[in-house]
Amino acid sequence: MSLSEEMSGACTVVPAVAGAWPLAQRVADQLNCRAVRLADEARSPVALFVDYDDLWLQKCMAEQVSPVRVDFASPGLQYRRKSGQNELLGRAVGVKGDTRPLVLDATAGLGRDAYVLADLGCSVTLIERSPVLALMLKQALERASISAITSVQLASSRMQLQSGDSRAYKISQETVIYLDPMFTDRRSSAAVKKDLSVLQALHASVENEDEQLFVWAMSQPVRRVVVKRPLKSPALHHRKPSHVIKGKAVRFDVYVL
Ligand SMILES: C[S@@+](CC[C@H](N)C(=O)[O-])C[C@H]1O[C@@H](n2cnc3c(N)ncnc32)[C@H](O)[C@@H]1O
Repeated sequence: MSLSEEMSGACTVVPAVAGAWPLAQRVADQLNCRAVRLADEARSPVALFVDYDDLWLQKCMAEQVSPVRVDFASPGLQYRRKSGQNELLGRAVGVKGDTRPLVLDATAGLGRDAYVLADLGCSVTLIERSPVLALMLKQALERASISAITSVQLASSRMQLQSGDSRAYKISQETVIYLDPMFTDRRSSAAVKKDLSVLQALHASVENEDEQLFVWAMSQPVRRVVVKRPLKSPALHHRKPSHVIKGKAVRFDVYVL
């Protein structure tokens, strides 16, 4: 089974309203997933709900069933923007004065960190290997490009999306690689946010991705590699970073190469 089939097996497509059934079937074909008419029939860890102009993930058979969307104009991201919480991530990739590095976000996920960096003025290439998330990111970028919020539109114009494995991507020397792999360290699981737990359910079969990605990133001819880590976890591969930028819940390990 290919990686994309394995990951798509973790997800079932469900129409949000009965009329969206043909659309749900098309999306399921595109993602190589199963489609069912009713959420109760989904037997996978996660369901992708499809509506005419919306798309969201929800955990199946779980107590916590809040929907997870990719929405760059969401109040949460706009608050993060205004509260200045983005500065640490900006500093970690090397935003300083007029310098705005070219960033490769090799673990795009829900695109939040990529959006933050683009909003700070960086050009960001987002790579996501989950076809489900890549589709959600694609639609979110399309919506952002016509957003009524000028800053959202501007940030989206600095974001380019690629679907696939980052390790197959050809990287230029001026790039900073940013990694936010799934935290596989069990001790940190309590700290994993609710929406990231949906991503974990979607990718239950991928093991040691953090170590593998780190080894790949460090072997690239780039200026800098930045890794987001839980505050108290050891550095990946036990490799001491050049410096560390600490936030309240996470830290950024910065490797200047
Ligand atoms: C913790 S999430 C990233 C969250 C993201 N920083 C955000 O702000 O929304 C990690 C993501 O990396 C993706 N990923 C892991 N290994 C990858 C690879 N080799 N290439 C592309 N994406 C990968 C996973 O599919 C997952 O969606």
